[in-house]
Amino acid sequence: MKRYFIAGNWKMHKTVAEAVSLASELRDRLSDCREKLMIAPPFTALQAVSEVTRGSNILLGAQNMGPEESGAHTGEVSVLMLKDLGVSVVILGHSERRHTYGEHDALINAKVRLALKHGLEVILCVGETLEEREHGALETVIRRQLVEGLRGVEPSALLGVTVAYEPVWAIGTGKTATPEDADTVHAFCRKVVAELYGQEAALRMPIQYGGSVKPENVAALMAKQNIDGALVGGASLKAESFVPIAKFR
Ligand code: PGA
Repeated sequence: MKRYFIAGNWKMHKTVAEAVSLASELRDRLSDCREKLMIAPPFTALQAVSEVTRGSNILLGAQNMGPEESGAHTGEVSVLMLKDLGVSVVILGHSERRHTYGEHDALINAKVRLALKHGLEVILCVGETLEEREHGALETVIRRQLVEGLRGVEPSALLGVTVAYEPVWAIGTGKTATPEDADTVHAFCRKVVAELYGQEAALRMPIQYGGSVKPENVAALMAKQNIDGALVGGASLKAESFVPIAKFR
């Protein structure tokens, strides 16, 4: 049976105490959940949360990382530091990184390759803005983000990659792509991955949907053939909403 990958991206929310409290509640309430689970607290809470999730069925994720292993990079956090804290998954190329902080495909690609080299799993986010969608550029944008984001990634390393399709206009806005719309874009992502790595690899690739996923819409989204999980922002900040998302079936 399909195992879904349900991930929470806490963004710039929660003090250490708040993060520990939420992580503890999730650990207790999701211990019987069959899906693959991840939470990504802010950097400052990673160490404390890692003590809560250790030995549980919840993977520890980071929301970003620097493109270098170490050195004079003020303000950056290294893959080695993340591994040291028990992080096993890193979210890269989130639209907030791309659009608010100017991260471009080559930078994201450097991070993807570095994370995979060190054995971290990667959630590579792709997605179009409303303007790009309205101008008919959806496929061009998604193709570019996938091709450039995965450039130089060996077929064997692809096993560590999950793609997250997150239409920018659906993030934090309450607007969700319809399950049909999302499924169509997911199928397109799979087609691009198949062109790059072959059909088998494309079928194996988990593709999450992200953008205003809530307890009310999760089941309809997950029912679609090409949707293999969810990357959840706002609704991951409370156990009352994240638990029913993770336990949608
Ligand atoms: P949202 O965020 O669920 O609040 O729309 C999703 C994301 O940015 O990953």
